[in-house]
Amino acid sequence: MDKLLISGGNPLQGEISISGAKNAALPILASTLLTDETMVISNVPHLHDITTTMELLGRMGSDLMIDERLNIEVNNSNITELFAPYELVKTMRASILVLGPLLARYGRADVSLPGGCAIGSRPVNIHISGLMAMGADITVEGGYIRARAKRLKGVHLTLEMVTVTGTENLMMAAVLAEGRTILDNAAREPEVTDLAICLNSMGARIEGAGTDRIIIDGVDSVHGAHHRILPDRIETGSYLVAAAMTGGNVKLKNTRSELLDAVLSKLREAGAKIDIDDTSISLSMPNGRPRAVDIHTSPFPGFPTDMQAQFTAMNSIAEGNAVITENVFENRFMHVHELQRMGADIKLEGNTAIVNGIKRLKAAPVMATDLRASASLVLAGLVADGETEVDRIYHIDRGYETIEEKLLQLGAKIKRIPSQQTRMPVSKARIVK
Ligand code: UD1
Repeated sequence: MDKLLISGGNPLQGEISISGAKNAALPILASTLLTDETMVISNVPHLHDITTTMELLGRMGSDLMIDERLNIEVNNSNITELFAPYELVKTMRASILVLGPLLARYGRADVSLPGGCAIGSRPVNIHISGLMAMGADITVEGGYIRARAKRLKGVHLTLEMVTVTGTENLMMAAVLAEGRTILDNAAREPEVTDLAICLNSMGARIEGAGTDRIIIDGVDSVHGAHHRILPDRIETGSYLVAAAMTGGNVKLKNTRSELLDAVLSKLREAGAKIDIDDTSISLSMPNGRPRAVDIHTSPFPGFPTDMQAQFTAMNSIAEGNAVITENVFENRFMHVHELQRMGADIKLEGNTAIVNGIKRLKAAPVMATDLRASASLVLAGLVADGETEVDRIYHIDRGYETIEEKLLQLGAKIKRIPSQQTRMPVSKARIVK
């Protein structure tokens, strides 16, 4: 497995460009299953999760083409396998997003249950019960969701929890359902809105995306379209925190400040000076070391759980104490144990972390446990004394496009150590054995 080596101490300086949002690209790629006509999607980030989604679509029979500017052209007129296997779903839970579109368009789907992951049990009961309320016949057998339906029917659903991919799955299913679907307590995340914009450009009739009530009037069919993915607010936020922690001065281009108001307001509270225009955000730290800031995660427009680990890292070197409360996922503090190995003074009590800021962290070998936890370890490495080795960075490659290149461009000392030693061909491994 690849590792990252980071020498701490350099304030980040300069400009980089933000990539398209992974969490919008994934449902939008799944939404292409709703039409036989060609879809063109641009600003798709080059990430492992995108490759996994393309592999999943390819196995179903999608015809996919990528040009040199990473526009993806998808044609789904020859779908033959209505099946998402465990081996792909286990590496990327968002594979569940094919369930709604497959069922709506083809009347059947067999999708592996995602199971748990490092940040909690992450059930999909709301996806399943919503589709059943729309008339689907669903059983769970042998670890697979087996869904069958004639034409789905519009219903009025109040989602029992705010779920991002649950809202997206049900919204995609409702596009081809008969009649009107109302989703109350819907997720308001910008990626849900981006999906709705894409679906409407395909001929869907969706109103209210971005609010907690989404109304979808079903249509008989949708057509091909071109959609540009919105900027990645979590990537944006992660680089802003990196700049704040290192006392840097950066400009992030191709992004949008209104996607991350809650994060920007916490960065200002920490002492950052932030300047915004239509497509960029600049951050500097006039007073050097950040001040500790309390965080409570919640669904959008609240503070995103996907930024919690990065702010935990920032608080660990900030002036003062902070209380971090994780309200979205039950077990999202795996990074705390790794940060403690770098000297961070953090106590865990249930779903809160109490962080007592110290002046410097010390480099240590640490291990990434999930996507955003790994980002927090890279950030910690940027301010630690010595050389930090972050192992298992395949997690980071799932969600951050060319992270080491972007950080190098900002003046960080970082390098990737490829894992050639561990990639022994199976035949040779057997001989050695
Ligand atoms: C999405 C994001 C992820 C982010 C999360 C919360 C994608 C691909 N991933 O994940 O980066 O961290 O939103 O902002 O967009 N829940 C249930 N039953 C369900 C579904 C969810 O109980 O059927 C619970 C979950 O366990 C969790 C909460 O609802 O406690 C929110 O999860 P959800 O919004 O569904 O997360 P994802 O959509 O998987």
